[in-house]
Amino acid sequence: MKKTSEQKLKVLVTGGAGYIGSHTVVALQQHGFRVIVIDNLFNSHAGVIDRIGEITGVKPEFHEFDLVDTDKTDSFFASNADLAGIIHFAAYKAVGESMENPLMYYRNNLVSLMNILEGMRNYKVANLVFSSSCTVYGQPDELPVKETSPVKEALSVYGNTKQMSEEILRFSVGAYGIKTIALRYFNPVGAHESALIGELPRGVPNNLAPFITQTAIGRRDRLSVFGSDYNTPDGTPIRDYIHVVDLAEAHVVAVNRMIGNKTKSDYEIFNLGTGKGYSVLEAIRSFEKVSGQKLPYKFVGRRSGDIEQVWADTSYANRELGWKAEKDLDDMMRSAWKWEQALAKGNK
Ligand code: NAD
Ligand code: WQD
Repeated sequence: MKKTSEQKLKVLVTGGAGYIGSHTVVALQQHGFRVIVIDNLFNSHAGVIDRIGEITGVKPEFHEFDLVDTDKTDSFFASNADLAGIIHFAAYKAVGESMENPLMYYRNNLVSLMNILEGMRNYKVANLVFSSSCTVYGQPDELPVKETSPVKEALSVYGNTKQMSEEILRFSVGAYGIKTIALRYFNPVGAHESALIGELPRGVPNNLAPFITQTAIGRRDRLSVFGSDYNTPDGTPIRDYIHVVDLAEAHVVAVNRMIGNKTKSDYEIFNLGTGKGYSVLEAIRSFEKVSGQKLPYKFVGRRSGDIEQVWADTSYANRELGWKAEKDLDDMMRSAWKWEQALAKGNK
């Protein structure tokens, strides 16, 4: 196996300054990997790299450039052909923005993936972990949703880029001798317990957890709950929220699975969730419980494109990866709140 002079396996994390990427860099370093980050800081900032250094005692090597740039990506691979693996997080992820500017999303999310694959082919790097999403399932016919459940017509351009990426991977891995594990995340929330890294939404948050914490800290007047007439026990939609630290650990497991030649095929897919669904009102109650704060909210109409309910069947991931999400919704809300409070003190 390819090792560096310090005998540490080298892993590239694209999008490693971002939300899930930064937590994964921490986990990889804590598991003894040498990590290199590529990020163009479109949705993050360089301070995150320093924070990773504060948490782990090691500042990862950082390259700031756009992975859509084929020449720069190729030069990176030319001097880093000894990578043991790559985790490819770098992508745009805002559903609404993707509908307003589809080409921005197709270009960034697909060209960056193809440049990575091109580099892997040309420089013989074998192992790739890809960030996919439960969005590929749309509204599943059966719950909980399994990896074998059908991929439904995409409801957004963003979701479509994840479906197309999975297809690109499915056909490319065999042709180029690349092993891939696609991880379909459900709803990642929460932050590192140190409150040194966490989610940093640009502008008004689209996602529930940062909107809740920003409301509680006083940056937003109140949370709008999108719809109260869904066919669910309390009328609000149900999701499988997963702690970002649990998610990060799963990436370390996936990398080790490939390095240790434990994969069952060249292209594997796993659901990453807790296997439990919670409604929007349950998420609010959990936040109120752990923060001791009353959250101002009002019911408004449904948000277009929202599905009613989805949660993961995690049995395949639990069995095959030997990984299980450990943290519950209260842990997620507690850490998200601690992070929001740290941000308010200028800690970012
Ligand atoms: P994020 O925006 O916080 O992180 C992505 C990082 O990639 C950012 O730091 C951004 O600057 C960088 N980036 C984007 N395009 C780039 C490019 N062309 N070149 C270099 N860097 C680039 O997002 P996240 O929440 O950490 O998501 C990481 C991955 O997981 C994404 O692929 C996303 O689609 C996927 N995902 C996220 C969620 C979620 O709810 N957060 C759910 C499912 C899947
Ligand atoms: C959760 C629930 C909202 C905000 C999105 C992407 C998906 C994936 C995860 C990347 C829903 C409700 C939210 C608010 C609300 N990302 N809500 N008021 O929509 O499940 O998934 O992020 O792959 O692709 O679509 O997550 O956090 O936006 O919403 O009532 O202000 O909270 O209606 O029921 P979602 P979310």
